[in-house]
Amino acid sequence: MCGIVAITASGRREDLGLILTESLKRLEYRGYDSVGIAVIDGGALRLAKNVGTVDIVARVEGFARLSGSVGVGHTRWATHGAPTRENAHPHTDCGRRIAVVHNGIIENYAELREMLRSRGHVFTSETDTEVVPHLVEELKSSGTDTYSAFKKAVSALRGAFAIVLIDVDEPRRIFFARRVSPLIVGLGDEAILASSDIVSILPFTNRVIVLNDDEVGYAEPGLVFIEALGGGPVDLGGRVVRVEYAMGEFEKGPYEHYMLKEIREQPHSLAQTLSGLVSAKEEVERAVRILGGSDTVYFIGAGSSYHASLIGALYLRYLGFRAYAIVASEAGAYLRGVREGDVVVAVSQSGETIDTLLAVRESIRRGAKVVALVNNPLSTIAREADAYVYLRSGPEISVAATKTFTSQVAALVYLGSALTGDSSRVDRVLESLRRLPDVTALVIESSESVAKSLAKRMSSVPSAYYLGRAFGYPISAEGALKIKEVAYVHAEAYPAGESKHGPISLVVCGFPVFFTVVGELDELIEGNIEEMKARGAYAITVLPSGMATPVIEKNSDVMIQLPRLSLEVSLVTHVVPYQLLAYYTAVERGLDPDKPRNLAKTVTVF
Ligand code: M6R
Repeated sequence: MCGIVAITASGRREDLGLILTESLKRLEYRGYDSVGIAVIDGGALRLAKNVGTVDIVARVEGFARLSGSVGVGHTRWATHGAPTRENAHPHTDCGRRIAVVHNGIIENYAELREMLRSRGHVFTSETDTEVVPHLVEELKSSGTDTYSAFKKAVSALRGAFAIVLIDVDEPRRIFFARRVSPLIVGLGDEAILASSDIVSILPFTNRVIVLNDDEVGYAEPGLVFIEALGGGPVDLGGRVVRVEYAMGEFEKGPYEHYMLKEIREQPHSLAQTLSGLVSAKEEVERAVRILGGSDTVYFIGAGSSYHASLIGALYLRYLGFRAYAIVASEAGAYLRGVREGDVVVAVSQSGETIDTLLAVRESIRRGAKVVALVNNPLSTIAREADAYVYLRSGPEISVAATKTFTSQVAALVYLGSALTGDSSRVDRVLESLRRLPDVTALVIESSESVAKSLAKRMSSVPSAYYLGRAFGYPISAEGALKIKEVAYVHAEAYPAGESKHGPISLVVCGFPVFFTVVGELDELIEGNIEEMKARGAYAITVLPSGMATPVIEKNSDVMIQLPRLSLEVSLVTHVVPYQLLAYYTAVERGLDPDKPRNLAKTVTVF
């Protein structure tokens, strides 16, 4: 995780600290344990860092007072060492002339640290990162120039990293390297920048070069040099890509939190996803062609993307195909059976989740084809897959996935129906998906007040169950994840029938149990509701209107009735009341739903 940014501007800028602060705000979704920046100004390195969010640290540490033409910034999700000022990036060498920001994990840091200590280097943090500035300092002590020393240092590292280094001896340059963790170089007229994500540098440029694994290089105004570690210089001619984003998409607008903005944006994001699926014919046809040639389809994802994967796999089974869903972090074990002829669908909003990326690489190694479903076409997963489908949901800033989850489900349903090759089915599904923007707006409107009032109850309970059968289970799982991650309510999802095999022992008077009924009613769920109710559960049933049977009515303390829709549309919209409930429960508990503790939006460490 962690977000890094660096800039080399055409001239000295009084506002360099402010520029880095603004960039870091856009990277904060990658971690918010601590924040820091370093600039070179007047022949010296100036450093400011501390524990806290960008807004607070920037104010307390006076980021705005830092000027210069070269600087780096970092927002941290702690891996090695607690979130303390000492462990905050940037990290420096003994002479405080070199500063480094890093995303990833340096696996052999302990041995490098020992070696450097024995050479007299003094470490001030517990981080793996700090070995880098000391190693470069050590290598330079024998007269080597900064770039050669940096390159040599990077070659000595094992693990995953995106690194940017600045050095007082090279006051116009930023030095960068990448292995696994993402890093791009942005080509602006006023500055060259490097960053974990293009969103942080958009005010300067939308023209970027995406670094490949084991590429290393440097930039100064008017010059970018990149080479492959152990190979020669890279021809940058065909490497520059232009990314279209509207800056307004990043603003919170009138909303107090991004999470609510993104929930309410779903009619629009779904419209974008659908129009992309219809208009980007080549992209979608390529994916469908690959899927069409498969023996078995494996959907792989993490968190919400895993829940979308479960829906994707179940939908393919419903259509008669052989499909499975695998949790990305467990893929190592499950992929053993994957072989040539199989297709892996990598579902990842960011396209950078390390577990999903490693699963993609392992699948390719085993001869399978990979189709990626991503919200960033420049991401590593999109670039390494045989084909990708771009969700076009727009940037999602809140850590909790909301609009990208519904876009994933809509895209998976569309791809599934296209895979049948039955054009009348595809037309029918498309026709019904076209109603998504209106229907989603209706679902938001009709479930918001009940979500608000239920949030009052949920804000004072320690635990809840979310139960469903068939498609109701993955939607329950997503509902439980939402309230767990943003409102810190312990919530577990279970296949409803399985709840009798253990979980029911926790149910006492007033224990909230949500029942998700989606698609056709499986009457067995009536029994599950009755069983819970008999133990005093507070039963909340989320179901299509007109589907409540007398048993459901009698046993539900609350019924959230959604418009009765086709299965495909319900699969997308049914989660919305759960998103709203999680949001309002967090607010009710006085929490910031956009920045849940201990989480980062993009998980780039194992
Ligand atoms: O970018 P990805 O879709 O690969 O991310 C996967 C998970 O990290 C992500 O869905 C996470 O679980 C979210 N916080 C869920 O709200």
